[in-house]
Amino acid sequence: MNILVTGGAGFIGSNFIYYMLQKHPQYRIVCIDKLTYAGNLETLRKAMENENFRFFKGDITDRKAVYGLFEEEGFDAVVNFAAESHVDRSIEEPEVFLRTNILGTQVLLDAAKKYGNIRYHQVSTDEVYGDLPLDRPDLFFTEETPIHTSSPYSASKASADLLCMAYYRTYGVPVTISRCSNNYGPYHFPEKLIPLMIINALHKKELPVYGEGLNVRDWLYVEDHCKAIDLILHGGRPGEVYNVGGHNEKTNIEVVKKIISILGRDESLIKYVTDRPGHDMRYAIDPTKITNELGWYPETTFEEGIKKTVDWYLSNKHWWESIVNGEYMNYYERMYSGR
Ligand code: NAD
Ligand code: TYD
Repeated sequence: MNILVTGGAGFIGSNFIYYMLQKHPQYRIVCIDKLTYAGNLETLRKAMENENFRFFKGDITDRKAVYGLFEEEGFDAVVNFAAESHVDRSIEEPEVFLRTNILGTQVLLDAAKKYGNIRYHQVSTDEVYGDLPLDRPDLFFTEETPIHTSSPYSASKASADLLCMAYYRTYGVPVTISRCSNNYGPYHFPEKLIPLMIINALHKKELPVYGEGLNVRDWLYVEDHCKAIDLILHGGRPGEVYNVGGHNEKTNIEVVKKIISILGRDESLIKYVTDRPGHDMRYAIDPTKITNELGWYPETTFEEGIKKTVDWYLSNKHWWESIVNGEYMNYYERMYSGR
């Protein structure tokens, strides 16, 4: 198989590339990535040594470049990770989210349609379902849960999902969608909760917890997400949505305290700061469908995964130090000073 992976210089896309190169050594993987602030070629350095891997710097909204790549490569499948992915940035500046997440998806779908109804997988998110109340632990997101978005980020991802379904129904493009819960693991950009807390705790900097820290996220180790996408790509039914999550709900404050305890820091570093506007309370996935249809289950427990992740950040300082010392500092100041 020759697979186009978009957004592969980011967190999950890069983990997926490494997963696929190892799991299917005979496959060719081509990555297109615009290398925005969240994309980092250093992340793909090892992949570049593999002759079955090619990196192409390009924007998924650039129709000419995308069509050119499809003509040159003759892809069998597309997996679309490329996106603006951070909720806080979407609140500051929504437009680029609409451009990349919606229009970029449309260009890729058009290419999949034009070059022979190529198998297309859309990497979506549980955030398209909105949130669940804290006092109803019996409720979970299923694939039938109505779309009900809160942030410009989740609205853009939901729009892309609807477009994918329209291309399946109207043009017969063999599309699948996965909606996964929050991921964590290596190469996670430092603006997101878990890497931000690890890096700040290492520097004995304040740990900014939004609101009361009681919001719940359903954390999944990134490799388990990669395994799910591989299973869907090979065995998923076109036109179907698959929820991915491992029943691992934690409040933010629990996650932050866990990181503090692994790193032997003091809880006095915690600082409760002004809440995120429109902040979703609880995400929780029911993964019954993917488990029953494709035999997926999560292999890494949170206990194991969070230790592996902290270890990774400790052993790969060169990867994140260049990020946190650059333009990221301006973002951090803008987002957190005086909050
Ligand atoms: P990320 O921000 O780490 O990486 C995104 C990548 O896309 C970057 O390499 C960036 O350079 C690239 N990109 C952005 N705009 C582009 C464009 N116009 N053209 C080409 N490349 C572009 O994001 P992530 O956390 O790895 O998320 C990947 C996908 O998974 C996203 O679609 C996201 O919505 C989805 N998702 C993420 C999570 C999570 O917990 N991180 C959970 C569920 C779903
Ligand atoms: P985040 O990693 O941004 O993922 P998402 O909003 O897509 O779930 O945030 C995870 C949770 O952590 C979310 O409830 C917001 C919260 N959070 C903080 O409390 N402090 C922070 O500095 C960040 C980045 C997030």
